[in-house]
Amino acid sequence: MRVGDEGTTEKATSVEECRLIDLPQIPDPRGNLTFIEGRATIPFRIERAYWIYDVPGGRSRTGHAHRTLDEFVVALSGSLTVTLDDGMRTRRVVLRRSYVGLHVPPMIWRRFEDFSTNGVCLVLASQIYDEGDYVRDRERFLRLKRGGDGQ
Ligand code: TYD
Repeated sequence: MRVGDEGTTEKATSVEECRLIDLPQIPDPRGNLTFIEGRATIPFRIERAYWIYDVPGGRSRTGHAHRTLDEFVVALSGSLTVTLDDGMRTRRVVLRRSYVGLHVPPMIWRRFEDFSTNGVCLVLASQIYDEGDYVRDRERFLRLKRGGDGQ
């Protein structure tokens, strides 16, 4: 089991630890500017960025968790709902501002839902893509959360 920077074990993460973080804003009549710096603005070093776009209004992505990955989610345009689930509790967070992001620590089952038409969602991640880090099976996720090996 990994022990993270905060000293918490990956399996013990709860939905309360999924934090909304206000990002710096530089207001400007020519157009506002917001920025993110790994470790300074968000609690991990950024190794990867991906974004989801051209989403038909109202559509959702499949739910999954990551064993060791931290993610930071920002609705750059439009809105989406992130459903968070730690095996005990569920929380729904609506993202609709490009200057507020959501930190999703490892071992949280998360679903991106109800995208607005042409919404764009940016995700910053603490590691490069690794399919082996995904937990795509909900029952396996619950076994891991209970302390099992997920087999
Ligand atoms: P995935 O994370 O499974 O998205 P969702 O759970 O919302 O369907 O990603 C979809 C596909 O994209 C999957 O086949 C893996 C691929 N992918 C990459 O190759 N690199 C990446 O950084 C990400 C996020 C996904």
